[in-house]
Amino acid sequence: MTEIPVTKASPKELKKKPALGMELGFGKIFTDYLFLMDHDPGQGWHHPRVEPYRPLSLDPAALVLHYGQEVFEGLKAYRWRNGEIYLFRPRMNYERLNRSARRLCMPELDVEFVLEATRQLIRLEKDWVPPAPGTSLYIRPNMIANEAALGVQISKKFLFYIMLGPVGAYYPQGFNPVDIYVTEKYIRAARGGLGEAKTLANYASSLLAQEEAHELGYTQVLWLDAIERKYAEEVGTSNIFFYIDDELVTPPLHGTILPGVTRDSVLHIARSLELKVTERMISLDEVISALESGKLKEVFATGTAAVISPVGKLAPRGKRHIISGGKVGPLSRKLYDHIMGIQYGKIKDPYGWMEKVA
Ligand SMILES: Cc1ncc(COP(=O)(O)O)c(C=O)c1O
Repeated sequence: MTEIPVTKASPKELKKKPALGMELGFGKIFTDYLFLMDHDPGQGWHHPRVEPYRPLSLDPAALVLHYGQEVFEGLKAYRWRNGEIYLFRPRMNYERLNRSARRLCMPELDVEFVLEATRQLIRLEKDWVPPAPGTSLYIRPNMIANEAALGVQISKKFLFYIMLGPVGAYYPQGFNPVDIYVTEKYIRAARGGLGEAKTLANYASSLLAQEEAHELGYTQVLWLDAIERKYAEEVGTSNIFFYIDDELVTPPLHGTILPGVTRDSVLHIARSLELKVTERMISLDEVISALESGKLKEVFATGTAAVISPVGKLAPRGKRHIISGGKVGPLSRKLYDHIMGIQYGKIKDPYGWMEKVA
């Protein structure tokens, strides 16, 4: 593919790079450039370009601001010890972005084109990819409806952009168990709704539950199904796994759950470890009775941001249950080390998941 045109930032516009260690935190620092591209019915996707990072200029009537027509992704680039930079299963993210776009009546992207745009942007910004173990460059592709019009309707104009930012640990506590509050009051998604799309409404609807969980001293919320409020669905912005006896159980993808790239990777690895892996509905009652009978070995959440987050406490209906003695369980540790090992090039990647960028 041809080189995407770059408007160079003036030396004054270039940001001072912070110390690129774990203290970076998550989502606070952004690099110097954005990739942008426009869409309209006549031209389709056109005008791909790289420009200095800047505020977007949107008409106050831009449809995204009123009716939420937006989809996004989150993936990471990792710097290996030899200095090379790799992406982890990036096609899965862009294919998911296209599925989300279809659900929100938005135009699909050419996966190979946006992947190449991502690579070119990362090469331009390669000095921002942090070298410290556990750090990475977070990539946020975003598509928004930017036709200026009121009245609920499908936009005729869209903007796609990719922003980058160096990140450290998602949770300040690092790879340590998190405390999870089970909410029966709020739901994240119902079948037929938007749950399996990565779109802003799902995150807006999660804020109040998250806030109430924080006030009670918990890190995240366990979402139950919308109808019976009985079956586990997701944890915060992660997928959820339960290790009971010798079975690793995760809820099935039936429309309310985001099909996580990390979830899929854990399923592959767990099967290769010859664990019994089942995608099935699992009720909170089953989890609690497994806990009480000593059969519940571990609970963990999976996602790009934190990879594996072991659950140390689970609190349904005002009760606090301690999981794995409140410690990181052996399976969580093994999966974390395995996925991180592949992502940082420390162990063999038998699946061909890593893609070299620079
Ligand atoms: C609601 C939700 N569930 C699950 C995940 C985990 O998905 P992935 O492993 O692709 O990061 C995310 C993160 O993107 C999410 O936002």
